[in-house]
Amino acid sequence: MARTAVGIDIGGTGIKGAIVDLDSGELLSDRIKKSTPEGGEPDAIVAVVKQIVDELGLDDASLPVGVCFPAAIMDGKTLSAANVSKKWIGFEAEKLFETTLGRNIHFVNDADAAGYAETRFGAAKGVKGLVIMTTLGTGIGTALINDGVLIVNAELGHLEIGGKDYETKASFAAKERDDLSWKHWAKRLQKYYSHLEALLYPRLIIVGGGVSKHHDEFLPLLDLRAEIVPAALRNNAGIMGAAALAADSNPAF
Ligand code: BGC
Repeated sequence: MARTAVGIDIGGTGIKGAIVDLDSGELLSDRIKKSTPEGGEPDAIVAVVKQIVDELGLDDASLPVGVCFPAAIMDGKTLSAANVSKKWIGFEAEKLFETTLGRNIHFVNDADAAGYAETRFGAAKGVKGLVIMTTLGTGIGTALINDGVLIVNAELGHLEIGGKDYETKASFAAKERDDLSWKHWAKRLQKYYSHLEALLYPRLIIVGGGVSKHHDEFLPLLDLRAEIVPAALRNNAGIMGAAALAADSNPAF
């Protein structure tokens, strides 16, 4: 019998969920995807997550459920809110999800989940030294992994460069908003990743988010000291990592 858990990835535009095989990292169910409700408020988001969990048809009440979310998170509380409603700041998110879904939930940052999944199943597996996972989507998410150990809540997407919170310039949403060519966007990415490298000296940088499937268009344009590669798990890394973190933090499992 496969060891399994559920992963739910809440993003600024979409919410996705699936059942994950924790040994291989593969998805054992269809990936269910729904739009993030306008305004990104807690009650509306948890209602969509409930629909996804219901549609997954879980019969085992003890199956670990991991939820990842675009905010810094401590002890189940969301501490920030960059691209969702400000109601999430200082909010008991894990409690709301546990009450609504009637299950134990493990609530984590979305980039941390993606970084954890890449470490267990993907591009960072077995890599020694510092790896920085970055996700280019509505915002820029980052995760630090050193010798395979995740250091949570690195919010390096908000590095300030030239007086600007740089996720507002270099995220994929910024590329779309400003209608940038790959080349023009790559110039902004170069500035961002060079800054990151000047501060942290990673051995490997991983680029995730939906746009990572087009990595051929922009990664070859970057000139960095560290190796930079697309996420091996593409846009499923959040789901896989949320599931794996939920299971690994659950001693009974
Ligand atoms: C948030 C991070 C999140 C990232 C990617 C940022 O705006 O502050 O917590 O990981 O977006 O979703």
